[in-house]
Formats: sequence, C-alpha cells, structure tokens
Amino acid sequence: MCGIIGINSNKPVSSTIISSLKKLEYRGYDSAGIATLSNGLINEVKSEGRVDNLEKNNLVQNMEGTIGIGHVRWATHGIPNSINAHPHSSQNVSVVHNGIIENSTILKKFLVGKGHKFKSQTDTEVIVHLITEHLKSENVINSIKKTLKLLHGSFALGIIFKEQPDLMIGARRGSPLAVGYGPGENYLGSDSYALKSMTNKISYLNDGEFCIIKKDQVEFYDEDGKKINKKVLELTSEDQKYDKGDYKHFMAKEIEEQPLTLKNGINEYIDNSNKNINIYNFPWKVEDITSIKLIGCGTAYHSCLMAKYWFEQLTSLDVNVDIASEFRYRNHRFKEKTLYIFVSQSGETADTYAALDLCKKNGMKTCSVVNIIESSIARDSEFVLPIHCGTEIGVASTKAFLGQILILYIFALKLGLLRKDIENEVFLQKLNDLKSLPELVEKTLKIDNKIQAISNTFNEAKGSMFLGRGFSYPIALEGALKLKELSYVHAEGYPAGEMKHGPLALIEEGMPVVVLAPRDSYYKKTISNMQEVIARGAKVLLITNKSKDEVLSENIWETIEVESANEDLLPFLLTIPLQKLAYYSALKKGYDIDKPRNLAKSVTVE
Ligand code: F6R
Repeated sequence: MCGIIGINSNKPVSSTIISSLKKLEYRGYDSAGIATLSNGLINEVKSEGRVDNLEKNNLVQNMEGTIGIGHVRWATHGIPNSINAHPHSSQNVSVVHNGIIENSTILKKFLVGKGHKFKSQTDTEVIVHLITEHLKSENVINSIKKTLKLLHGSFALGIIFKEQPDLMIGARRGSPLAVGYGPGENYLGSDSYALKSMTNKISYLNDGEFCIIKKDQVEFYDEDGKKINKKVLELTSEDQKYDKGDYKHFMAKEIEEQPLTLKNGINEYIDNSNKNINIYNFPWKVEDITSIKLIGCGTAYHSCLMAKYWFEQLTSLDVNVDIASEFRYRNHRFKEKTLYIFVSQSGETADTYAALDLCKKNGMKTCSVVNIIESSIARDSEFVLPIHCGTEIGVASTKAFLGQILILYIFALKLGLLRKDIENEVFLQKLNDLKSLPELVEKTLKIDNKIQAISNTFNEAKGSMFLGRGFSYPIALEGALKLKELSYVHAEGYPAGEMKHGPLALIEEGMPVVVLAPRDSYYKKTISNMQEVIARGAKVLLITNKSKDEVLSENIWETIEVESANEDLLPFLLTIPLQKLAYYSALKKGYDIDKPRNLAKSVTVE
C-alpha cells in the first residue's frame, strides 16, 4: 500500500529518502517517486515499478536539496505508471498522499473551471491544485487549513513548498502518519518502521491533526488550527534490524520463526510458577461482559473465526464474528455488555480502524489484538493484547496468524476460568498442554519434502478446494487464502459439511482438494465428506495428525501427518503444511513471494 517519507535536514536528502522508501517496499506498491527543493525549484522524479528503477535514474543520482518527500504508490485512481506516481506537483507545491479523496471528481471540475490543468488520473492531484489556488490569496498555513476542510475521504499527506524551503507539512485524516526527530533534521513517515533506521524518537498524528516540520523543530496543530503538544515516544530496538538472514524470502523465515512466536506469546502471558494466565490491567469486570464480537480483515478475520470456536467451547459467552468492511456500514444494536475485539497484525488496516472508531463513538468496550503496539488500532483501543511476533515483512501473514490465534486462545482460557465456565483442573491441564506447542510446531515444520512435490499438482490445476469442519474450518479458509494470494491459483475454503449444498458441483476428475481431518471430535464426519469428494474424482490431500489408527478410507491421493496434540491445539499444527504448500507453489512458479501482485502489507485504504 502507499507509503510516505519526508525529510527536512541540513544535508542532502535524496539518497536517504530512497533508502527509506526501500523500507516501505514490504507494504506492496507499483510505482515510486521523489521531490526535493533546490535552487528555488521543485525537482520531481517518478518511475513505474520498484524503487530500484527510481534509484537508477540519473536525475535522482544527481538530485540536490535538503528538504524532500518520497512515495511508493499502490494504485487506486488511475493505472500504475510514472505519471500517476506521486509526488504530484505544481510550480509552487509538491504533495505525496496515502488514502482516497472521495470528492475528487467534484473538486477537479471546480479547479478546471478556474483554469487548472491536470496531468494525472489521480485523486491526489486535486490537493496540489487546491493548495496552489489558495496560495494566491493566503499564507501557507491558511492554504493548508482551507484545503483540508474541502477534502472528503481519507488522507495522510506530506507537502513541500517552493517559496518555503525550510518547511514541510504533514496532515492526517484516516490514514496513519508519524513524525520522527533526529539531530539537525526531522522526518515524516507513513509508519514508524520506515523511520526506525533514522530515529527511535517518534510522535503520531491523530485524526484531523497537521504539523509543520522544520529542521530543528516540529509544531503540531489540531483540526481547528490550535497549537497542541505531542508526546515523544521512544521505540524499542527489538525489531530494528530485521532481515532475511540465510532465507530466500521473508515468508520462509517467518514460517520457520513460528515456534519462537509461540514461545514469546506463552512466556508473556503464562505465569508458570503460579500456574495462571496474566492479563494485567484488564479494565472491565468479567461480570460486565456477556458477549464478544471479534472483528478483522483477511487472515485476521480467520483468526477471529478460529477464536469463536474456542470462546464457545471454553466460555458461555455469546460470540460473533464480523468482517470489518461489512461491520462498519451496517446498522448495529450496540450492547453495553459486549466486548468488541479488533484483530490486526499491522494495527493500521483502514476498515478495522473504522470499525473500532464506530464502536468507540458508541461508547463500547474496545480491545485489540495487534502486533504493532505503536499502531493506530492499538493506541485507540481501551485495552491491548499484543501478539509479540516481531516484524512481519512478507505480505502474506504467517507468524502473525499463529500469534493472533495463540493470544485469542489464551484469552478464551482466562475468561473461561474467571467466569467459572471451566473447572480449574481443566484450565490447568490446557495450560500445561500449551507449553509443548512451540516444540510440536517445530517438529511439524520438518515436513518440507513431501509438500514440495505435492505443490506441482496445485499449480497445474484450474482450481482447488480446502475443506474442514469445526476447528479446522477457519484453517481451511486460511489455507485457501494463502494459496490464492501467493500462487494465484483459484482456491476455495469451505466447511466440509456444506459441500452437498452446492460446491460439490465443482468437483471433477483430478481436482486437488485439501481435506483437514485431524483426529478430533469432527473426524468421522469429515472423513465421510472426504469420501464424497473422492467418489467424484477429487485428488485428495488429507492432512491429519499422527495416530496409531489407520485412516479408514481408500483412494486418498496423499496424506500429510502433523504432530498430535489436544484437540484445541491441532489448528496451530494444521496451519503449517498449508503455509508451506502456498510457499512452494509460488516458489516453483517464480512469483514474487514476499510481494504478491496487487497486494499490500498494510491496507490503509478501505
Ligand atoms: C493475508 C493477509 C491479509 C491481512 C489483512 C489484514 O495473508 O495478510 O489478509 O490479514 O489485510 O491485515 P491486518 O492484520 O494488518 O489488519
């Protein structure tokens, strides 16, 4: 997704902007650009494709200027090409923008009527012309204030001005924006990760705020233009140096890091000496919560679905799950005794944030399960349960998924105990079982060879299906999502029991179907469903757990066995072969595994 960098310094900035843009590459983008001020002029260079293309441009290599802005663009309005890439500039002003200006068509009409000429197909260009128009009669600050008032939709902006060589403006509504502080220079960034290589001192803009960034000073203003003070936060150094190591891709590394993710989560929340779960400073009485609503997007939504099974099994709470982009526009009966839980790796997903905002405005109890604790969702939730999985760079979420479901499982266990929905003995047994989970995942990770061979069949197929029942159903959805996003193979996740109600018509001779049938309480039912697809010609890859009992079915194409564990923990283990299947499929096709086409790591537009 789009990313912003801005630097106001006393030394040349172009090469630092380029290296910071590279830090934003993980977000997924299709073009890049940079603008600096030198000799009283705005210099702008843009290119389609990777930041490398931009860097190779001679104009960038010789670019002067001690103030500048850079951008990686993920196309929303207008095709990905160098004209639509940001920055967009007039003679007086240059702008980079994340987000969407919803009333750009009307604004453009108005500006064209005033004689403004547009070069691109983007919504962003209206911002450039509006500021330019206002600058005819106003000073810089008033031009910005007036422009921001006219914009509908979401934005994070970085702006520089020809006539103001020592001043950069940042503004935020809906899309996140951070300010960084360095010696003799200050920065603007769409996330703190991009700024981490330059500084660990950060402030975040809240919705409606804007800031003036000078070399030696930053001023913040609220929506009404009133000066405000901001806290300067010190970032932790834990994930400052995250790299691929000896792995070919971040995704491969992140899959292998999952035992560590689980160990970190367990160490953080489980108190071994007191045999308890520590959830500090929980702000509500458990009696005041009678239902739970879990909300997320994509993989995080699958974590929510997974958690529903555990919450229903371990507590007597009412549990509902929603996709954030659907939740935010529906009519809700908000209930005082519902706890709203927002799940997000990045903590910046626009739809999830909007759902959180809606709940807050309606006075609801809000809690988030996030990886990035400095993120907007974490900062604006009343209570945060961090997942502690470290930086995740691969666009396809892997370790964050296991981190999310671990924390949700731990939370369900704790609420079950506090509400007296489960016996203390059961609680202690499950807590004890959980301790062996990192090791079980570590052993399951060794199943590589077989999966590499199997992945060819999926690559060659027209489409594939992933089936599971109960605890395995959300994992089937997640497996299908991983395969489609990485190897661009059509993959459909389905509850196995639902096949007869329509999807069975898709099954034809040789179609690869993954059946998740661990030896849990759904096992026999799933095996029956598996036989139904085998009878119609499907090539079934059965994923189950190790057992002394043979699987009673004929004509299974391939079987993969994960380690055995108590029923609650099997979903963690089933996830591993599915992640690897998607990884090897994409690897064989030579696709860009860490940055699949059309996708972004942090989806900051709705
Ligand atoms: C898929 C994937 C996405 C994200 C979704 C939400 O592999 O990564 O589906 O899960 O965009 O992102 P977060 O968790 O950052 O809110």
